[in-house]
Amino acid sequence: MLKYHSLAFIIAATLLLGGCNSPSSNQTDNQSTSDSMSSISSVVFGQLPDGQIVNLYTLRSKSGTEIKITNYGGIITHWTAPDNAGVFEDIVLGYDTLGGYLKDTPYFGAIVGRYGNRIAKGKFTIDGKTYELAINNAPNHLHGGKIGFDKAVWEAKTIDAENALQLSYVSKDGEEGFPGALTCTVLYKLTDEGALEITYTATTDKPTVVNLTNHTYFNLTGEAKNDILGHELTLNADRFLPVDAGLIPTGELRAVQGTPFDFTKSIKIGAGINNVQNEQIKLGGGYDHCWLINRPTQNTDSLVLAAIAHDPGSGRVLEAFTTEPALQFYTGNFLNGGITGKNNTKYEKRCAFCLETQHYPDSPNQPQFPSVVLRPGQTYRTKTVYKLSVKK
Ligand code: GLA
Repeated sequence: MLKYHSLAFIIAATLLLGGCNSPSSNQTDNQSTSDSMSSISSVVFGQLPDGQIVNLYTLRSKSGTEIKITNYGGIITHWTAPDNAGVFEDIVLGYDTLGGYLKDTPYFGAIVGRYGNRIAKGKFTIDGKTYELAINNAPNHLHGGKIGFDKAVWEAKTIDAENALQLSYVSKDGEEGFPGALTCTVLYKLTDEGALEITYTATTDKPTVVNLTNHTYFNLTGEAKNDILGHELTLNADRFLPVDAGLIPTGELRAVQGTPFDFTKSIKIGAGINNVQNEQIKLGGGYDHCWLINRPTQNTDSLVLAAIAHDPGSGRVLEAFTTEPALQFYTGNFLNGGITGKNNTKYEKRCAFCLETQHYPDSPNQPQFPSVVLRPGQTYRTKTVYKLSVKK
C-alpha cells in the first residue's frame, strides 16, 4: 500500500530545510535534502493560456541522477546520468520552458494516450458499435488525437517514501472520439540506483481501447552533442511489424533476420538506417516500427529486457524492461533542425531515439494482435523500467 504525503508535509519540510537551486533550473525548489539522499521537490513551471498553473517536479536519486517531470502532459523534461568519467549530463530532448511544450512539440518526454501510436483511418468497432476518432496524422489517428494525454494537466501527488510522483487524469467519455470515461494513473518512481520505473493503470466505465506509453527522446551522448547513429542497440525481438505508406502495420509479423531490422545482436543504429533498398526503411524514413518483444509464452506480462542502447563515447547504457508485448523504436526521422530545444540546441534529424513500450499499433482493427480493449471492472496495468548504467 502506498503511503501518500500531503502538501502540508512538503511545505513544512521546505520551511525546515530551506530551498536550493537545482543545476538546470534557476527557480527555487520548495524542498531540498542533502545530495546523498533520494528526494522530490517542485517549482512552478508556468501558466497555461487558460490560467492553470503547472509544476515541475525534480526526483533525485542517491546515485545523483535527477529527473524533472511536469504535470503538463506528464512530460519528462530533464534526465541527468553520469558518463564513464562520472560527469552528469542531460540525456533527453525537450525545452527549457513550458512555452516550448505549448508550441508544436513532437511529444518530447510525454505520456501518450489514450492510444499511443496509430489507429487506421481513426476508426474502430467494439461490440458492434463503430467509433470515429480525431484524425491528426491524416488519414490516421495518432497518439490520442489533437489534444491527447501529452497536453492534459495531470493531478500530481508526491509520494516521498517511494521517491515517486503519481499523476492522475480522467479522460472524459467521448474525448477525441474514444468511448468511456477513463481514469488513469501514471506513477514515476526513481530508484536509489537511478532507474525510472513507470507504472500505468487505468479503469473505464464503458468498453474502450487503451495503449499508454512514454515518448522520451534519448540521446546518451549527453546534451544532444552528437546524433544517435553511433549508439549500439540490442533489441530482444525476432520479429517486427512491416507498415504501409501511412505507417499502419500490414498485419504481417516479419522475421528480422537478414534485414536492417535485426538488432538481436548489438549493432550501431546507423548501420542500416539509410538502406533504402529495404522497402520498410524507405517507408519509415528510417526506423519508425514496432518490434515484438521475445518473451516466454507463460507468464506473458512479466517484466522482460526489451532493449539495450549503448553510447561508446560516453559509456552510458540504457536498458528498457517492460511488461508490454512490443516496442516502437523511432529514430527522430521527422526532426529537421526546425526545433530549438534546451540550451539553444537545434534538434536535427536523428539526434535522438525513442523506446516506446506498448501494444501493437492499430490493434483495435487487427483482431489477430493482442487485445487493447478495456472493459468496466477490469484494470489496465503495465510497467516499464528505464535503467541507466555505464560501461567503462
Ligand atoms: C511516433 C511515431 C512517429 C512520429 C513520432 C512523433 O514515434 O511512430 O511516426 O509520429 O511519434 O513525431
